[in-house]
Amino acid sequence: MRVLVTGAGGRLGRVVVPRLREEGWTVRATSRHARDEPTVEWVTVDLATGEGLRPAVAGVDAVLHLASTPKGRQTHRVDVLGTRRLVVAAGEAGVRHLVYVSIVGVDRVPIPYYRHKRDAEQVVAAGEVPWTVLRATQFGGFLDEALRAASRLGPVIGDPAVVAQPVDPRDVAERLVQRLTAGPLRRIEEYGGPQVLRFDEAVRAWNAARGTRRPLLPVRVPGRLGRELRAGGLVTGATPRGIRTWSEYLSDTYGGTAGK
Ligand SMILES: NC(=O)c1ccc[n+]([C@@H]2O[C@H](COP(=O)([O-])OP(=O)(O)OC[C@H]3O[C@@H](n4cnc5c(N)ncnc54)[C@H](OP(=O)(O)O)[C@@H]3O)[C@@H](O)[C@H]2O)c1
Repeated sequence: MRVLVTGAGGRLGRVVVPRLREEGWTVRATSRHARDEPTVEWVTVDLATGEGLRPAVAGVDAVLHLASTPKGRQTHRVDVLGTRRLVVAAGEAGVRHLVYVSIVGVDRVPIPYYRHKRDAEQVVAAGEVPWTVLRATQFGGFLDEALRAASRLGPVIGDPAVVAQPVDPRDVAERLVQRLTAGPLRRIEEYGGPQVLRFDEAVRAWNAARGTRRPLLPVRVPGRLGRELRAGGLVTGATPRGIRTWSEYLSDTYGGTAGK
């Protein structure tokens, strides 16, 4: 079985591609830049223009769609129109299953990027290729980057009561392999990490692992966005869940060594 993985060089793609290969899938991987690797067939695709898409979907059984542009002005063009281009090309090529990775909360939390992800989910569901949407919670590495960004001025600036459910991309990759193997669900499945954490708890563990003492400067996120984030808009009660915790991510990444 051959699967096309879009955005295969990203955080999740780097983890899921080797797992797919271990499970016996032949992987064709997309990037906007030419890449070379003996075990994976890299093809160049730009979803903003559709360049490279037709040959990329030719002869594949399934598509795992991970490519996304969360920042900048291209999000609608890449995530929504690009997903439509991909769905149409995959339909014309006779692809039998398209798995789209979305985010828990895209239907609740008013973040502009999430609106585009929700629109892309609807494009997938309306397309002719049998589909599955897996909505994952935030990856540990993403939360780590968010905390670094929030502490650029010294203290960690954030709303202590916001709750998150970090998940390890390896666990998400495992679920995606299962979903690809099982065939189209034709519905949305949610998948989260093993623990729900308040922002202040996440910051405490982060400081401890890095040997830092960045104080939390509490700033309440206003309006509906804040209400949704505090009420658990980013978390899911769905099972199964991932098994690797935020603490494990931190010790894998920082090894508990002070001063990093
Ligand atoms: N990060 C999280 O915490 C999280 C949580 C839940 C769900 N998700 C979803 O999971 C998916 C993968 O996330 P990720 O964190 O692995 O993303 P990522 O690291 O940002 O990787 C996304 C990839 O998309 C590709 N891309 C960007 N613009 C493109 C374009 N115009 N045409 C084709 N490819 C393009 C890039 O590949 P090249 O630069 O090689 O072209 C990039 O490597 C995304 O759909 C995201 O919304 C992420």
